[in-house]
Amino acid sequence: MNDTASSFVANHVVGIPKSGIREFFAIAATMEDAISLGIGEPDFVTPWHIREAAIFALEKGKTSYTDNLGLRRLRNEIAAYVERNFNASYDPSCEILVGVGVSEVLDCALRAIINPGDKVMYHEPCFVSYAANIKLCHGVPVAVHTRAENGFEFDIEDVKRAWQPGCKAIIINFPTNPTGGIAESAQLKKLAEFVKEKNMLVISDEIYSELTYNGTHVSIASFPGMKERTIFLHGFSKAFAMTGFRIGFACSPKPLIEAMMKAHQYAIMCAPIISQEAAVEALVNGKPDMEKMRDQYMRRRDFIVGRFNEMGLECHLPKGTFYAFPCVKKYGLSSMEFAKMILDKAKVAVVPGSAFGESGEGFVRASFSTSYQNLVEAADRMESVLSKLK
Ligand SMILES: Cc1ncc(COP(=O)(O)O)c(C=O)c1O
Repeated sequence: MNDTASSFVANHVVGIPKSGIREFFAIAATMEDAISLGIGEPDFVTPWHIREAAIFALEKGKTSYTDNLGLRRLRNEIAAYVERNFNASYDPSCEILVGVGVSEVLDCALRAIINPGDKVMYHEPCFVSYAANIKLCHGVPVAVHTRAENGFEFDIEDVKRAWQPGCKAIIINFPTNPTGGIAESAQLKKLAEFVKEKNMLVISDEIYSELTYNGTHVSIASFPGMKERTIFLHGFSKAFAMTGFRIGFACSPKPLIEAMMKAHQYAIMCAPIISQEAAVEALVNGKPDMEKMRDQYMRRRDFIVGRFNEMGLECHLPKGTFYAFPCVKKYGLSSMEFAKMILDKAKVAVVPGSAFGESGEGFVRASFSTSYQNLVEAADRMESVLSKLK
């Protein structure tokens, strides 16, 4: 029966692996007492005033579809927010698309631009969706391997080396999941020059931008001549602790937003109105809560990275996100073996670096979006296991 069913699956889908993160955490979830440093989602509940806005929306009977692009009021607020924080200006009537998380607007962007066989670059290790999503859109993923020796810092020379004829776009993600890296303005400037020279488009996933602890976040969309060749992606999941609301947005010139709209309109219609109402509240009044959460993450980051290095688990300081990415090579295990071992012996769940692409091998991702207390306990447990392995 299964053979018959399998025969219907499209060739380009067969080879795409399921996300390594979910598979691994299905195992962890069955273990009592396990501390999860695994899932990339805030441990905070969405701030009350944002939840209240969703409740009010329901009370007022807001249960309809919205404009396909999203509520006009939300798009107005997004335009103001992006102008204020990213120094890039978009017309809310036709240059902003609200979707179901950055996940959906990323998919719309790729579906809008990829002709079968077009190549799309991305720097790796990276968010698990990029390569799979490119393949689902009949594109060819081209990884730019960043290097452990320099803390996985983004280097334009790596991009130049990886470039091939037929590369139409590059996805960038700063601060970076899973390494916590950021891009200095000088590197972005060089990238901007390179993409202009090669006539490429940039898809810039800036979902972690508010969670920048060192330096100032800069968007490539703000560089001269870059608006017309950038699709700027952002969302509410991380900074506003709103993963379950499923709201993200894309900003780009009209022709690209119109093309993305076709994918969005025929697949999704519109993002849920209740979530859109909550997102308005997040943008208008959410800054103090967001800053409080960011301060907590920073305190946890300093603690866990300090403890990792203390116990001999070499770890660079993530400048953004809520992920630490320590090196486990010295234990002579693959990152998957290490993650299984530490789950089994210390009951601490981390994600094998290999889940983020081959350049993540030798590392694990430990999310510090869990309580300080959990981090203290997780570090103690890991130390007691690792000290016996030395
Ligand atoms: C880099 C990156 N982009 C996009 C997403 C998806 O976020 P959303 O909840 O907005 O779909 C994630 C989620 O982990 C992420 O890490």
